[in-house]
Amino acid sequence: MNKLIVDGGSPMRGEIKIQGAKNAVLPILAAAIMGDGGCVIHNCPWLRDVEKTGVVLSQLGCEWKRDGGDIYVDASDMNDCRIDERLMREMRSSIIFLGAILSVCGKAEVGLPGGCPIGLRPIDLHIKALRQMGVLVKEEHGYLNCECPRIKGADIHLDFPSVGATENIMLAAVKADGRTVITNAAREPEIADLSNFLNAMGADIRGAGTSVITINGTDRLHGAEYTVMADRIVAQTYLIAAMMTGGEVMLTGAEPQHMQAGLSVLAEMGGKIKKNSNGVYIKCDSRPRSVHILRTMPYPGFATDAQSPFVALAAIADGTSVFVENIFENRFRYADELARMGADIKVEGRSAVVRGVERLYGAHTEAYELRGGAALVLAAAAAEGRSEITGVEFIDRGYEDIEGNLSRCGIRINRVRV
Ligand code: UD1
Repeated sequence: MNKLIVDGGSPMRGEIKIQGAKNAVLPILAAAIMGDGGCVIHNCPWLRDVEKTGVVLSQLGCEWKRDGGDIYVDASDMNDCRIDERLMREMRSSIIFLGAILSVCGKAEVGLPGGCPIGLRPIDLHIKALRQMGVLVKEEHGYLNCECPRIKGADIHLDFPSVGATENIMLAAVKADGRTVITNAAREPEIADLSNFLNAMGADIRGAGTSVITINGTDRLHGAEYTVMADRIVAQTYLIAAMMTGGEVMLTGAEPQHMQAGLSVLAEMGGKIKKNSNGVYIKCDSRPRSVHILRTMPYPGFATDAQSPFVALAAIADGTSVFVENIFENRFRYADELARMGADIKVEGRSAVVRGVERLYGAHTEAYELRGGAALVLAAAAAEGRSEITGVEFIDRGYEDIEGNLSRCGIRINRVRV
């Protein structure tokens, strides 16, 4: 087990190259099993969730190897269509393999998913859509058993623009018979990234990144080479680190178009932002200001994954900010940990009222999930005194070398084994 020791109070100053996006690389690796021929994926971040995806690939009988940021996948010897329950519990996003496995094998058996404890994470929309495509879905003993020798294109309207359901439908549809049209599709940039990769493999997908996606089924996909987009949530986390420590940071490779909602809030809170073709720069030399009210929304609204880092920022801002979490119902658990550091946060159901304090103080805190864990690191960097953060394995699910990136920018942070 690891913990992070942070001696707060040093301003962040420097440059960080933004890692590839976790939420893009996972579906792309799932899609890679659909190619006749190997795929090379560049800019793959070093993350626990990516390692686990490698375990899923091996379990399916696919060959994969990693060389720095490149992952090579060859599914020619794929001989299994089952992902066991234990793996699914560890990483809910493995559900994204469902559409891909079905498309390759005509059947799939996957354990019911687990993941970060941030509320109920049902998969009813995935199942309803697959049934519309002719897939026979049965739920037995903690497993989903799916069968469909020939998937059929369909018109699918999503009741909610679920990211995972949109991706699973795309994966199931690319080699289906006929045309699939998804309406009220999720518009996240990671969906457009998956679509670009699938199109590079020979798929015919149009409209990804908008709320109507059309997929014309093709008989076969070939191998492809692709570079994963930059992680927009990691980028916002580091921008906030600079703001909370009264510093500045240049994020190379970050894509400002993908985080307009977050950037406009940061500007409102006092961040001085510059965007150019290399990335995004931020500087903040006075106490951040509060925001009136922030509501998480599907993209292009304010991202639920950015909510906890922004709450950490609001915790030291001048004034009171209100956050409303509309996507996941249990996403404020970390607030109690921030309170140990002196934050004044009142959580009421899906809302949090954050009264900014002048100073946070170092404390022992525990991360229970990925983004809430990142909020604790940010608070510790800004706090007076030493903090110790346990539960680092959650943070490692989504942040590549967080302590290396921050310490190279002057934050006093170390990882120790306990
Ligand atoms: C993805 C992201 C996650 C992000 C989330 C929302 C990945 C690997 N994860 O998760 O980081 O926080 O999008 O931006 O890309 N829902 C249903 N039924 C379903 C599916 C979803 O009710 O069948 C609900 C969920 O409970 C949740 C909401 O829809 O309340 C959003 O979920 P969804 O967009 O599917 O998120 P994920 O794909 O799980």
